[in-house]
Amino acid sequence: MRIVVIGAASAIAEHCCRLWVARETCDLVLVARDAAKAGRVAEDLRVRSPASTIAVVEADFLDAAAIGRLAAETAARPIDIVLIAHGVLPEQSLCEDDLLVCRDTLEVNAVSPALFAEAFAGHFARAGRGTIAIIGSVAGDRGRKANYTYGACKGLVARYAEGLEHRFAGTGVSVVLIKPGPTDTPMAAAHRASGRRLASVEQVARAMVRGIDAKRPVVYAPAQWALIMFVVRHLPRFVFNRLNL
Ligand SMILES: NC(=O)c1ccc[n+]([C@@H]2O[C@H](COP(=O)([O-])OP(=O)(O)OC[C@H]3O[C@@H](n4cnc5c(N)ncnc54)[C@H](OP(=O)(O)O)[C@@H]3O)[C@@H](O)[C@H]2O)c1
Repeated sequence: MRIVVIGAASAIAEHCCRLWVARETCDLVLVARDAAKAGRVAEDLRVRSPASTIAVVEADFLDAAAIGRLAAETAARPIDIVLIAHGVLPEQSLCEDDLLVCRDTLEVNAVSPALFAEAFAGHFARAGRGTIAIIGSVAGDRGRKANYTYGACKGLVARYAEGLEHRFAGTGVSVVLIKPGPTDTPMAAAHRASGRRLASVEQVARAMVRGIDAKRPVVYAPAQWALIMFVVRHLPRFVFNRLNL
């Protein structure tokens, strides 16, 4: 199986890679902004699966032309899955106080994943096959004061994935949008410090890999978030706006 992982130093992405190499020999391309960090992930995966081929590529995640070139180079050989995993979660108050932080958050979490998805979509369309797996978030299901800049980005990612899914309906190309709930990774360090309950990264990665295998259009991870977010989405405004979320 040939898999390209965008944002490969992410804890969730790394754990997906561990699951993939544990079950079969893989050809992995790990794309990250910091090759040294992704290199450490690659070293660990090589120990777990000496027969797998693991390459590291450093990239600028905000450079549309570079993203296009990277997709073209990696798609020169058939790709089974591209997993788009990068993201950043600043304090909401920083986005409110500093428009540069707000812009960076919007670019990294929304524009960049959409560009990667679009770049690979063109190659998958020509090949007639491949799975685009992209990590959104439960935060994208409804805007709320605690994280609406990040949440809006994930909302864009969800709508983009939905459009791609429609574009590729009836073809050999699949689109899988993963919506994790709060998960114990470096991104959620502040949640952990405040004592919030977090899913383990292993549990979330297992749900993701299962969902990607099944080519499910939307995967909540862990699954109970589907029900929780159904309720949250349907709360009437006069109730929702009184909640401290
Ligand atoms: N953890 C959660 O609670 C949670 C919940 C819902 C959704 N998610 C989503 O899950 C995905 C994976 O996150 P994670 O939990 O695995 O967090 P993580 O371990 O902190 O990984 C985030 C990754 O994004 C990369 N990144 C951040 N800014 C970047 C930039 N400007 N250019 C390139 N790469 C950048 C980071 O690169 P460096 O390693 O170089 O810093 C890091 O590898 C993200 O899309 C996140 O939004 C996470």
